[in-house]
Parts: sequence; structure tokens; C-alpha cells
Amino acid sequence: MYQNITTEQKGKILIVTVNRPDKLNALNKNTIAEIGVAINAASTDNSVGGIILTGAGTKAFVAGADISEFAAYSLEEGKALSAHGHAVFNSIEACAKPVIAAVNGFALGGGCELAMACHMRVAAENAKFGQPEVKLGLIPGYGGTQRLPMLIGKSKAMELLMTADVIDANEAHRLGLVNHVVPQDNLIAKCEEILNKIIDMAPLAIGEIVKTVNACYDKESNGYTTEIERFGACFVTNDFKEGTEAFLGKRKAEFKGN
Ligand code: COA
Repeated sequence: MYQNITTEQKGKILIVTVNRPDKLNALNKNTIAEIGVAINAASTDNSVGGIILTGAGTKAFVAGADISEFAAYSLEEGKALSAHGHAVFNSIEACAKPVIAAVNGFALGGGCELAMACHMRVAAENAKFGQPEVKLGLIPGYGGTQRLPMLIGKSKAMELLMTADVIDANEAHRLGLVNHVVPQDNLIAKCEEILNKIIDMAPLAIGEIVKTVNACYDKESNGYTTEIERFGACFVTNDFKEGTEAFLGKRKAEFKGN
């Protein structure tokens, strides 16, 4: 079904792997489109409770947008490429199910942007992060100029975006770009551990967390108003009824996501 990604479901966890290891998993247009299809399918699939996004092999998560594909692009083609990336990466950010980037090596350019579009990032010890676009006469085009300052602050984001410095996993952790740093062999297990905790929670409430936290960074939204609305919406769900009844009855809640 897919040419540039693979998908594997383990229990309620879907692992989406960018699979172009000979090109260090560089993102061509087709790969971005396939990631979008996989995320959209998982969003409406009740058997999926959480998603891990990773890269094939042990060297790269994603080494950037595929430079060979856009080298001769025009202004209009450049804008269309960026807009397509934005649409897909926004759909990852807005996914009502938790999405964790398992960063197993280079996360450069579009790779760092892809990781930043996920809800959380877990890095292997060999992971490297950077936005080297200025070396190519470019700027990030898949949300990097917006999400990097949101995650690490304007000052440090300016430095990384302007110097094209590549930072290691520990520095990324210190800056708050990644949630955890683990040995490469434990990378997927650590992501599964986090997702399994989330999968035990009320699924609709998790979707509301995504919506409400994202509203904090959306200039069109008032996040506090969004919180009032989404908090209220939880009260009419069966999950809320079940959660409160289970607490008061001193038993484990069995959430159905409705
Ligand atoms: N786009 C297209 N192809 C890429 C790529 C990218 N972003 N990143 C790596 N590749 C390809 C290389 O061209 C090479 O292909 P080839 O074997 O057909 O020549 C292959 O992947 C392996 O990469 P290579 O550069 O030989 O590996 P390395 O270990 O020497 O260096 C990197 C690794 C990540 C430092 C280096 O590949 C690199 O700088 N990549 C580009 C990073 C970048 O600028 N990303 C932002 C793009 S906007």
C-alpha cells in the first residue's frame, strides 16, 4: 500500500516508520503524503490508541526534506511544497491520539520539523537535531520557524536557526526539545511505555487535551475560552460518567471513548 513508509500495529500502538534508509529517510513529497494518509487513517481507527513515528535504520530519523527533489523549484512550487508540508504536519499536531516521535538518529531540517509536529519526542542517545536550511539559502518550510521557538524559546531558536548548529540528544533534552533520552535499544520501548499509560486514560479527554493545549499556541484562539468549552464538553461523555463512578466505587475505569 505504501512506498516510502511502513506501518505496524502492536496492540493499540501504531508504529509509522519512514522507510528510505539509503537516503537517510529524507522526505520527498510522496513520503509526506503517505505520512498524512497513515495519520488520518489512524485518527479514525478505533483499534489505534497512540502512534509512534520513527525512521528506518539506526542512523537517521529523517535527514530533512529531499534536497534533490526541490533543487530546481520555482517560487510557486516552493510555496506549494511548504503548504503541503504544513497541512500534513498540522494534522499530526492536531491528531486526537497521542503521537510520539522516536528520534533514532539525525533529525535535521524537515526531520526536526516532523519531530516537533509530534506531541512528544523521545531521543536515542545518538540523535542529532538541527535546522541547517540557511546553509542551502533556505529557511525551514514545514513549521520549524514557528514550532522551534514555541518549544525552546525565541532566543535559542534564533541561534539554532541562524547558525545551522547541530545539537546532540542531551543538549536537546536540556533545551526542552525532547522529553527523554534513552539508549537506542530502548527507544521504542520507552515510547510504548508512555503511550500505554495514556491509552489507559479516557480517550476523549486525551483528544481534548490536544485541542486545548494547541489552542495556547494558536493566534486565532483564546486558549482559556477553549478550555472552558472543552472542559464542559467532557461532562456529557460516558467516559466522564465511567471515570467518576469508577473512582467513587474504588474500581479501575473501563473507558470506551464515547
Ligand atoms: N535530501 C536528499 N538526500 C539526502 C538528504 C536530504 N536531506 N540527506 C541525506 N541524503 C542522501 C545523501 O545524498 C546520500 O545519498 P547517496 O548515497 O545517493 O549519495 C545518502 O542520503 C547518505 O547521506 P550521506 O551524506 O552520504 O551521509 P553522511 O553520513 O556522510 O552525512 C548528513 C549525513 C545527515 C550529515 C548529511 O547527509 C546531510 O547533511 N544531509 C542533509 C541535511 C540537510 O541539510 N537537511 C535539511 C534539508 S532542507
